[in-house]
Amino acid sequence: KRRVRIHHLQQLKERGEPWPMLTSYDMYTARIFDQAGIPVLLVGDSAANNVYGYESSLPVTVDELLPLVRAVTRSAERALVVADLPFGSYQASPEQALATATRFMKEGRAHAVKLEGGRRYAPQIEALVSAGIPVMAHIGFTPQSEHGLGGYRVQGRGDAAEELLADALAVQEAGAFAVVLEMVTAEAAKQVTGELRIPTVGIGAGPDCDAQVLVWTDMSGMNTGRTARFVKRYADVGGILADAATRFAEDVRGRAFPAAEHSFR
Ligand code: KIV
Ligand code: NA
Repeated sequence: KRRVRIHHLQQLKERGEPWPMLTSYDMYTARIFDQAGIPVLLVGDSAANNVYGYESSLPVTVDELLPLVRAVTRSAERALVVADLPFGSYQASPEQALATATRFMKEGRAHAVKLEGGRRYAPQIEALVSAGIPVMAHIGFTPQSEHGLGGYRVQGRGDAAEELLADALAVQEAGAFAVVLEMVTAEAAKQVTGELRIPTVGIGAGPDCDAQVLVWTDMSGMNTGRTARFVKRYADVGGILADAATRFAEDVRGRAFPAAEHSFR
């Protein structure tokens, strides 16, 4: 099985073939998604709310994310694994970004890293790319800047479309191999996708992006709570697990489990 590489993603854009990306934080999901043919797995800082129980992505640390990245890279044979740089681990300087990204590549064995921010983070992107680390950028609504952006709000409306395009061009110029567009109008995402050479990866960014990403716990219904409008729920994994746990509990209480076939004699 040949590993997916950044040039394969570029080729898909050139051929006009959209590709899927999912988050993954552990061995089973990495294996299952890899075998399902998902070419890119993101160990998102969304692990903050989907693994660690924080209420936003801000508190999660490099030391918390690294073992998850390592688990996913150990388990996916074919997918390109992207490690998200968490809040506070790259903003200070290109040097800080390089030190953090190096840990994700060396200790996490990631194949690429992702960071949030446009024009203002071009120096960080350049530093990583010069060091041989592929960078996926992330613009539009950037959850790590939730408080600066004034909450979860759609980006790229009206004049902001020009700002979004300037950010997209800047991250491409700095050497990013792809860029996530989160919660931006379909019109703005279409324009950016048309202007860029590198693939755009949409989440809440309409149908015209080169790729689409969802958080696995949202798209599978593992997360049984309320989700954003842009999430499509493909399964009810949370419901299935709740049912399994309930029936196991009933069986134990009713002495129906273990049966003879589960016992040694
Ligand atoms: O952390 C994450 O899951 C992400 C995706 C939503 C792009 O950044
Ligand atoms: Na993220």
